[in-house]
Amino acid sequence: MFEEYTNGNLPNLKEMVAKNYSGIETGEMPEVKGVGILTSGGDAPGMNATIRAVVRAGTKAGFKMMGVTRGYHGLWKGEVKELGHRDVSETLQRGGTFLMTARSKSFETPAGVLQGAKMCKVFGIDCLIVVGGDGSFKGARDLARIGIPVIGIPGTIDNDVGCTQYTIGYDTAMNTAMEAIDKLRDTASSHERCSVIEVMGRHAGYIALNVGIATGAEIILLPEVSWDMKDVIKTILDCRNKGKRHYIVIVAEGAGDATEVAKQIEEATEIESRPTILGHLQRGGSPSLRDRTMASLMGVHAIECIQEKRLNRLVVYRDGEITDVDIEEGLSMKKSISMDELERSKLLT
Ligand code: F6P
Repeated sequence: MFEEYTNGNLPNLKEMVAKNYSGIETGEMPEVKGVGILTSGGDAPGMNATIRAVVRAGTKAGFKMMGVTRGYHGLWKGEVKELGHRDVSETLQRGGTFLMTARSKSFETPAGVLQGAKMCKVFGIDCLIVVGGDGSFKGARDLARIGIPVIGIPGTIDNDVGCTQYTIGYDTAMNTAMEAIDKLRDTASSHERCSVIEVMGRHAGYIALNVGIATGAEIILLPEVSWDMKDVIKTILDCRNKGKRHYIVIVAEGAGDATEVAKQIEEATEIESRPTILGHLQRGGSPSLRDRTMASLMGVHAIECIQEKRLNRLVVYRDGEITDVDIEEGLSMKKSISMDELERSKLLT
């Protein structure tokens, strides 16, 4: 199907859309026969496991399952192909997303959303499953508002989606960071150095806080909490005066620049300090057990929502169970980092 509309056939697209275009303006909910899935935003370990679960549960429920490549960007261009049970074999344990992903600016405009809706009509996608974070869910909500039913599944290493206590990829990313920091501790300890490690999280410090606790960091800097270099230096010197010979400082990406923090610590304390930016390393790798099970169960839940005609929902994990909330309501929900946990972490160093 995908090939039919690409390879130079794009000029015919308008015609195809006109032929298949119906229901977008009326907002009527069609009976769902075809289900599409795309992954959007930053990739996260477990996205493949999610696609696998959705495709397998979806085909068993009798839906025609379709994969959209390159997120909303691919939807926009009509990059759609049918996926069957065997097409998702050997994907459960693979990192990344075989459907690929993109951060699509075009979807932030009404014209972009309309084009996406038209493509759903062209390919017979009666409900689109979007795996991603808040930004991706906003795109899905916009599609829902013009009559394309959607289901969102939270997939981002940052765990920063307000309506869910867990997002697919978070556990793997934290374990990857923890293992890397354990290694950095060995060398920091051998050289009596300060290791300043930047972990991902532009707006959210969930990775930094938990990884900091798990690695016994002396200092954890989060984007949500204002901090002062003077306090950082004082803490390092206090630790040294109590006999400590190596130091771990965790800086969330959105809280500051690890290179600059290391430079200032070294200048002020004369303790050799080395910055390490873990970066995209945290987004790769085989998903952990938690991410594989979460991805699998959330994927099945998404299909159950469609079977039960509960459309325009976000699949969420709350209070120990996988459930779902209305997409508009879910997008308005907020959650915040635990200040208690941050304070308690200070008792442990
Ligand atoms: O997906 C979330 C995230 O990993 C953030 O923690 C980070 O700030 C951002 O993506 C980096 O995105 P990019 O892929 O554009 O470098």
